[in-house]
Amino acid sequence: MPSSTAHVATARPARYVKQLVSHMGHKATTEISGDGRGVITLSRGRCVLAPSGGGLEMIATAGDTEALAGVQDVVTRHLLRFATQEDLKVEWTAPADAEEMRIIDPVVGDYLLTQCTPADEVLQELAVKTREATGDAAEMQVSHDEGALLTMLVRMVGARRAIEVGVFTGYSSICIARGLAADGRLLACDVSDEWTSIAREHWQRAGVADRIDLKIGPAIERLRALPAEPELDFAFIDADKISYPAYYEEIVQRLRPGGLVVLDNVFLGGRVLDPAYQEEHHVAMRRLNDAIVADDRVESVMLPVRDGVTIARRR
Ligand SMILES: C[S@@+](CC[C@H](N)C(=O)[O-])C[C@H]1O[C@@H](n2cnc3c(N)ncnc32)[C@H](O)[C@@H]1O
Repeated sequence: MPSSTAHVATARPARYVKQLVSHMGHKATTEISGDGRGVITLSRGRCVLAPSGGGLEMIATAGDTEALAGVQDVVTRHLLRFATQEDLKVEWTAPADAEEMRIIDPVVGDYLLTQCTPADEVLQELAVKTREATGDAAEMQVSHDEGALLTMLVRMVGARRAIEVGVFTGYSSICIARGLAADGRLLACDVSDEWTSIAREHWQRAGVADRIDLKIGPAIERLRALPAEPELDFAFIDADKISYPAYYEEIVQRLRPGGLVVLDNVFLGGRVLDPAYQEEHHVAMRRLNDAIVADDRVESVMLPVRDGVTIARRR
């Protein structure tokens, strides 16, 4: 689906969002979301308007480039009509296909896989087994470079108590468990008996089964049942995206000072960068990313590792 953006320099972005949403609401479906973004849905496409960085960010999407041009035209004409007191410049980017947004060039991605400690036989076999047994769902597995990052982070904080939300077939669990201190434990949460049966088998083979407690059931219930004390050293969140804010909140209050929470897929394939995507999980992830930056309890960094990884360290 092609999209195009325009950044319009203005001191009155919020006012224009309100005026456009209100005026165009007579002929189109319009709304203002809780965070001040305006969404105008026309028969041929839609436009999201967001006050941002000294101006107004507009993102138009439509089924094809002709329809996209129509959306751009109608929004631009209405905006210029309201801008009686300033001379706005509206320049749209060339149509791009957001579905094809590449965060990392595949050539670089492949190179990164070769430039970290190599996967051992168990991890290699688990990757193959996962592909055979789960088909397309195998895409959910962390890549080897991300797994190596997890092992390193767990080791660097000297973690003894770790939690994983989202086990799947157990690749990231092995990477976390291998970084733990000798007496360390990993509480691994997932809802699937089927996928985690593959995990159990490979934990045995990797020699880490005795340090992993697998709990089957909704992870949020398991997290809420944990003691309220800040005794966690490390947590990895990689499950249902809508629940990320709840997982983060339950975990961050239980992290000891210096403890880490790592979140996977914070880019959502690039959709988190594009306000045109407004499904529940897009909005939840976008808000959480912003909330972590503003969260005084942690210092954080977001890395372009695969689909985006945030590392937040409890102060
Ligand atoms: C992206 S996969 C995890 C991949 C895993 N970290 C790996 O490296 O192989 C997401 C997992 O979250 C699990 N999941 C989904 N909803 C859940 C929930 N509410 N509670 C616990 N686990 C959940 C799914 O069953 C799935 O195995």
